Amino acid sequence: NSRRLICSVATESVPDKAEDSKMDAPKEIFLKNYTKPDYYFETVDLSFSLGEEKTIVSSKIKVSPRVKGSSAALVLDGHDLKLLSVKVEGKLLKEGDYQLDSRHLTLPSLPAEESFVLEIDTEIYPHKNTSLEGLYKSSGNFCTQCEAEGFRKITFYQDRPDIMAKYTCRVEGDKTLYPVLLSNGNLISQGDIEGGRHYALWEDPFKKPCYLFALVAGQLVSRDDTFTTRSGRQVSLKIWTPAEDLPKTAHAMYSLKAAMKWDEDVFGLEYDLDLFNIVAVPDFNMGAMENKSLNIFNSKLVLASPETATDADYAAILGVIGHEYFHNWTGNRVTCRDWFQLSLKEGLTVFRDQEFSSDMGSRTVKRIADVSKLRIYQFPQDAGPMAHPVRPHSYIKVYEKVWLFTNSVLLYAGAEVVRMYKTLLGTQGFRKGIDLYFERHDEQAVTCEDFFAAMRDANNADFANFLQWYSQAGTPVVKVVSSYNADARTFSLKFSQEIPPTPGQPTKEPTFIPVVVGLLDSSGKDITLSSVHHDGTVQTISGSSTILRVTKKEEEFVFSDIPERPVPSLFRGFSAPVRVETDLSNDDLFFLLAHDSDEFNRWEAGQVLARKLMLNLVSDFQQNKPLALNPKFVQGLGSVLSDSSLDKEFIAKAITLPGEGEIMDMMAVADPDAVHAVRKFVRKQLASELKEELLKIVENNRSTEAYVFDHSNMARRALKNTALAYLASLEDPAYMELALNEYKMATNLTDQFAALAALSQNPGKTRDDILADFYNKWQDDYLVVNKWFLLQSTSDIPGNVENVKKLLDHPAFDLRNPNKASLFAYWRVLRFPSEFPCQGWIRLQVLG
Ligand code: PHE
Ligand code: ZN
Repeated sequence: NSRRLICSVATESVPDKAEDSKMDAPKEIFLKNYTKPDYYFETVDLSFSLGEEKTIVSSKIKVSPRVKGSSAALVLDGHDLKLLSVKVEGKLLKEGDYQLDSRHLTLPSLPAEESFVLEIDTEIYPHKNTSLEGLYKSSGNFCTQCEAEGFRKITFYQDRPDIMAKYTCRVEGDKTLYPVLLSNGNLISQGDIEGGRHYALWEDPFKKPCYLFALVAGQLVSRDDTFTTRSGRQVSLKIWTPAEDLPKTAHAMYSLKAAMKWDEDVFGLEYDLDLFNIVAVPDFNMGAMENKSLNIFNSKLVLASPETATDADYAAILGVIGHEYFHNWTGNRVTCRDWFQLSLKEGLTVFRDQEFSSDMGSRTVKRIADVSKLRIYQFPQDAGPMAHPVRPHSYIKVYEKVWLFTNSVLLYAGAEVVRMYKTLLGTQGFRKGIDLYFERHDEQAVTCEDFFAAMRDANNADFANFLQWYSQAGTPVVKVVSSYNADARTFSLKFSQEIPPTPGQPTKEPTFIPVVVGLLDSSGKDITLSSVHHDGTVQTISGSSTILRVTKKEEEFVFSDIPERPVPSLFRGFSAPVRVETDLSNDDLFFLLAHDSDEFNRWEAGQVLARKLMLNLVSDFQQNKPLALNPKFVQGLGSVLSDSSLDKEFIAKAITLPGEGEIMDMMAVADPDAVHAVRKFVRKQLASELKEELLKIVENNRSTEAYVFDHSNMARRALKNTALAYLASLEDPAYMELALNEYKMATNLTDQFAALAALSQNPGKTRDDILADFYNKWQDDYLVVNKWFLLQSTSDIPGNVENVKKLLDHPAFDLRNPNKASLFAYWRVLRFPSEFPCQGWIRLQVLG
C-alpha cells in the first residue's frame, strides 16, 4: 500500500510474531555509547534461492570473539524474517538454545574460545516488501538496498558497519524470469540446475560492511565497455537496464569512464576488481547506492538522451555516477565505524564528486551551484530545530531508518569541512593526507578523528581548534571590519566570530576559519601582498591572495606596505561555510562585481547587493511605498551581461537573482508575499531595462546543431535560456512569440523545456496550450512527465494550489501505484522535505 510506503512505515506482516511496539518506538542513539562488538565476522557465505512466494537465505559465518573466552552473548539483528534453523559448528540449536524477538536473535552460550561457524537459514518475502529496503521487487526484478540497516531484513546479522567480512554469494533462480544474477565482486562460476533454474556464484575479495551488500536478479541487458587502469588492469564495465532503456545509457558510461580516469589522475586511486556493474531501477528511495562493484541507481540518474534529458540531468548523472564510483575507496575500502561517522564517507565523497564536476566543467560555476545549495538547504536547517553538527552526538532512529541520511548538513557541510583541509594544506598537502589515510586504514572501519589525524600527521599541520567543525552545530557568523591607515600604509581586518545557539548547545567555542583574502587597488587589480602582522608575529607572503587563520572569538590581521585604501575580497572561493557580515559599502560591492579576479566573489558581490536591495524593497513594499530599482544595479548586471571575456554559464549565474528563501532567511519575520512581489518586480525591471542585450543573447546563442554535452555548449544554452526567461517575464506578446518559437525549434529537451518554463510563468491560454502540447508529446516517457508535473507544482502563478489539486487527479499521477515513477518527484517531496523547503502545501495536499 503506497501510503504506508510513503510514510516509510511499511512493515509487511511478520510471519509468526506480533509486533513488539516498545521496540518500534523512536529511539535516541548516542555516539558516546559506542562499544566495540564482542564478536567479529571473518567470512560470510550467503546463498539465495529466489522464488515467487518466498526466498530462502542461507548464511554461513565464521565468527571470532573479540576477547578469547568471552562469555558475551551474540546478538544478531533481524527484522521481518522467518527463522528456519540455526547451527553452531554444524550442530542444530533447539528452541531453548537461543532467544528470538521481533528484532533480534540472541545466542547466549557459545564456544567463544576460538572462532566458530554459525549457520542460519531464513525465509523472506521480497514480493511483499514495500519498504525499498532489504531484498525487494522492482518492476519484476529482485534488487536490494542495505544502507543503513536493510541487511537485517535479509538475514540475521550484526548489522553495523564495523563488522567487516569477506563475502561469497550464491544466487539461484528461475532462468527465464531472472536470466541475470548479480552480486558483489567477481563472478566465480555459473550454470544451469534442474527445474529450469540456474545459479551464479560471486566472490568479493575485499572485506566490507553488510550495508554494501547487493544482489540483483532479473531481465536486464547491459551496455558493455572496458577501462584499462593505469597499472594495466582490464576492467569490464556494465550498465544494466531493461532492454528498451539501453540506448539511453551512453552518457552514464561516458561518466563512469571519466570518473575512473579522474580518480587515478587526481587521487592516484585505481579500481580494484575486474568488473564494475551499474544497475538502473525505477523504484529506488534515493539517488543511488555505492554497493561494492554493484552500484544501484534510480533510473533517473542513469538514463539520458538529448530529447528526454536536460543539461541539468546530464550534469547530475555525471556527478552521481562519479560520486558512487568514488565511494569505492572513500566509504567502501575504508568505511565508517558507526553511523555517526557518516560524513567521513559522505562529506569526503561529496567533496570528491564536486571536484570531479569542477574539473569536467567550470570550477567557478560548480562552486556557485554548491554554495547556493548549502545556503538554500543547510543554513536554514542550521538555524532551526533540526540543527545538527557534521558529526551528531545523537540521532533518532525509527524502525530501521537512520534519519541522518535526510540531513543535508552531513553531506554538504561535511564536504565543506573536507574542502577546508584542502584550502589549508594545498593540493599536495591534501593529497599527502589522503595517501596516509589509505595507508593507515585500508579495509578498516574508522572515525572522523582518524581522517583528521591522517591530514595532520602527513603534513605536521597545526589545525588548532579545527575539530570544532565536527561537534558544533550552527553556521558561524563572521563579522569583518576593515580600516586603512594612510600614514603607516597598513590595512587592518578585524574579525569576530559567533556561532548562534542551537538546540542542546546553548554556548559555543570559537572554531578555525580559513579566510582566503585578496586586496584590490583602485584600478581593480590585486595588490601584491608582502606581509601580514597578527598576534605579535609577522608572516611574509608573496602573491595576490593569502589565507588568514582565524581561530579566536576576536582577532586582527594587519597588512603592511599597502599603498592606497584597498577593497578587500574576503572568503575567496567561499573558503569557509559561514555567514559573513562586512562593512563593505555598496560602492565597494559594485567594484568587486566589476573587477574581482576571484570569479566566485564577483558573483558573490552581485548576490550580496541583490539581497540588500531586495530586502530594502521588501520594507518599501510593506509600507506601501512605490518600488524603484537602483540604476547602478542594472548597470552592474548589464556590464556583466555584455562582458564577452566571461564564461557564459558564469554570466547566467551572475544575472540570476537570489531565491525567495534566501531573502526570507534574512528576515526576522518572513513575509513570503512581499518577498515574492519584490523578486518579481526586480526581475521584470531588469528584463525591461536590459531587453536589447537579452534579446541579442538569445539570438546569438541559438544552435541547430546536434546536442553536445560539453561545457561550452551547456554554457551557451544556460545563458540563452536565462535570457529567454527574463524576456518572457515581461508578458510582452512579442517575447511570448519568441519563446514559443524557441519551444518549436528546439532540438533538445534543455532548450525545449526552458522555453516551456519561460512561457509557463504567465497564466493564460498560451501557457495552457503549450503545457498540453508538451504532455501529449512526452506522455509515454515518465521521466519527462515528472518534469512536467514538477514544473507546474512549483509554479508561482496565482491560484496554483487549485492547479496542483487537479494534477493529483491526472491519469499519469497515480498515488496508489508506486511503480508509476511519475510519483517519484512527489515522493521526494514527502520523504525529503528539507530538499523542498517551500512546498509544504504540496506535502499537505498529497498526505491529506
Ligand atoms: N550512500 C548513498 C550515496 O552515497 C546514499 C544512500 C543512503 C542511499 C541511504 C540509500 C540509502 O549515494
Ligand atoms: Zn555517498
